[in-house]
Amino acid sequence: MSTWANLGLQDSASPLMEQLIFFHDHALLILVMITILVGYLMFMLFFNSYINRFLLHGQLIEMIWTILPAIILLFIAMPSLRLLYLLDEINEPSITLKSIGHQWYWSYEYSDFNDIEFDSYMIPTNELSNDGFRLLDVDNRIVLPMNSQIRILVTAADVIHSWTIPALGVKVDGTPGRLNQTNFFINRPGLFYGQCSEICGANHSFMPIVIESVPVNYFIKWISSKVNS
Ligand code: CUA
Repeated sequence: MSTWANLGLQDSASPLMEQLIFFHDHALLILVMITILVGYLMFMLFFNSYINRFLLHGQLIEMIWTILPAIILLFIAMPSLRLLYLLDEINEPSITLKSIGHQWYWSYEYSDFNDIEFDSYMIPTNELSNDGFRLLDVDNRIVLPMNSQIRILVTAADVIHSWTIPALGVKVDGTPGRLNQTNFFINRPGLFYGQCSEICGANHSFMPIVIESVPVNYFIKWISSKVNS
């Protein structure tokens, strides 16, 4: 999760988020180089007192400063497209989680198992324990196995919501009447927090998501305790 004064991206917990961070740094570096070059040129213009009365056009320099930015843009567009298609790739998931957005809570279904479904509400501030995170903790967490390919299906029951986990690089809209799909791979254990990110009504800010990433044998224990109860 994000903590104090963290203005950048969160640490990644999945290979796709890692790639997204690399792409962000790559694009930012190009941006900084362009800003410095253009800033330098604009600044230096103030001190330029040379004037050429016969200068009306320059075919060569215009050719260069048209083609060069196009090439620079390609260096951003190509990795961007690579990531876009990588994010949409489904790699034989070993488990499926269905999340349904409601005003204003999420409900989850583990469709691979019999009748495992539950609602997940934010814990109100006045009921929060001392180690809880305000506006971020929920009563029923999603438990998922780490080091496995996980598919999520997202939809909504009333208005549009968005199932968003920054550390995993996942953001899928839940739209009534549609079933959206994506997948991710959690590469470490831990708690991963997310929030709804479509403006979905008065309590939009109060429908967080918590994923508990655990080793596979712990997940099997948890899911069998759910099946038997
Ligand atoms: Cu649900 Cu915003």
